[in-house]
Amino acid sequence: MIAFDKAPSLCRAYSRDFWIGAAVNPWMLQDAEYRALILRHFSSVTLENDMKPERLLDRKATLAGGDPLRAQMNFTLADRVLSFAAEYGLKVRFHVLCWHNQTPRWFFAENWSDAPDAPLASRETILSRQENYIRDVMTHVNQRWADTVYAWDVVNEAFEPDQNEPGLYRARSLWYQTLGPDFIPAAFRAARRYQAPGQQLYYNDYNAFQPEKRDAILAALKTLKAKSLIDGMGMQGHMNLDWPDFALCEEAIRRYAGLGLSVQVTELDIHCPGADAERQAALADRYGAYFAMLLRLHREGLPIGSVTFWGVTDRDSWLTGFRREGSYPLLFDGEKHTKPAFDAVLAQPDKALLKD
Ligand code: XIL
Repeated sequence: MIAFDKAPSLCRAYSRDFWIGAAVNPWMLQDAEYRALILRHFSSVTLENDMKPERLLDRKATLAGGDPLRAQMNFTLADRVLSFAAEYGLKVRFHVLCWHNQTPRWFFAENWSDAPDAPLASRETILSRQENYIRDVMTHVNQRWADTVYAWDVVNEAFEPDQNEPGLYRARSLWYQTLGPDFIPAAFRAARRYQAPGQQLYYNDYNAFQPEKRDAILAALKTLKAKSLIDGMGMQGHMNLDWPDFALCEEAIRRYAGLGLSVQVTELDIHCPGADAERQAALADRYGAYFAMLLRLHREGLPIGSVTFWGVTDRDSWLTGFRREGSYPLLFDGEKHTKPAFDAVLAQPDKALLKD
């Protein structure tokens, strides 16, 4: 348990393997300690919320724009993080273009209406809005930061086999309601048009290791890959101390890579309900085993490009609010001291080297 600035750099320890990322918020960049921690230990960042449609879309400006097919955006916060990242040489994962959550209903409604029961716009209208949204966001970002953004989450969480929904798609997704399953290839076709050279296009999802869900995702990605529309699979990685079995994660990584896709772990955290030594030791063991598995696969030649933690310290983790109970799931505690889990993750590259 030492201060973050006394500990060896985590991302440097992984520099021959993959980028180590964290989900960040713009306010962290105004805080000298957070900035220093992020710059010391991480080589990649994802904005936890501020590149999501609900944060970028500006309804007032959209209405004022008067175009029924083209929404207007406000990039102030996103730009701030992008220019910070570019200045300090951090890489950015863009999260996320198309997702049923955190996208306002008015984006799908006739006349951009925000009435809760407003009729949804026609398929043609939504196809145009989707294309224009993806074009405008990607063009804006790539004008200045094409070399900073390396991956785009084009579609997030489209499959949900647990809830008896037709075709394994999320029936309550407004993307699904307006466009059916076509919303996925349409999004990737648009993103291909506006990406910059070297950037990769991702499908991203949670529990992507569960065999039933995995197979549904694999079937969809295979079709996209056959048309050269996708480059990678983002496995979110929200896990618990005793779930899942990492053998399932390994199997899933092998299958996604088997399609010719890169794999990134995009939202890693391991829910841990206590800060006590015993449970934190269990967390450290679990993280150690997970990174040992990722390193083994990577050194075997599987294209794992980055691993991103969903948050920086236990204090800023989304899990406490989400689970309505304490969670101590990350590598740094609320005082920005390293935890046993940090030591366990830091140690893995050297251990893997001994096995090479
Ligand atoms: C979460 C953020 O961490 C929270 O701050 C926000 O309130 C809700 O969204 N899957 C995703 C992420 O793809 O965007 C989600 O992030 C967590 C689950």
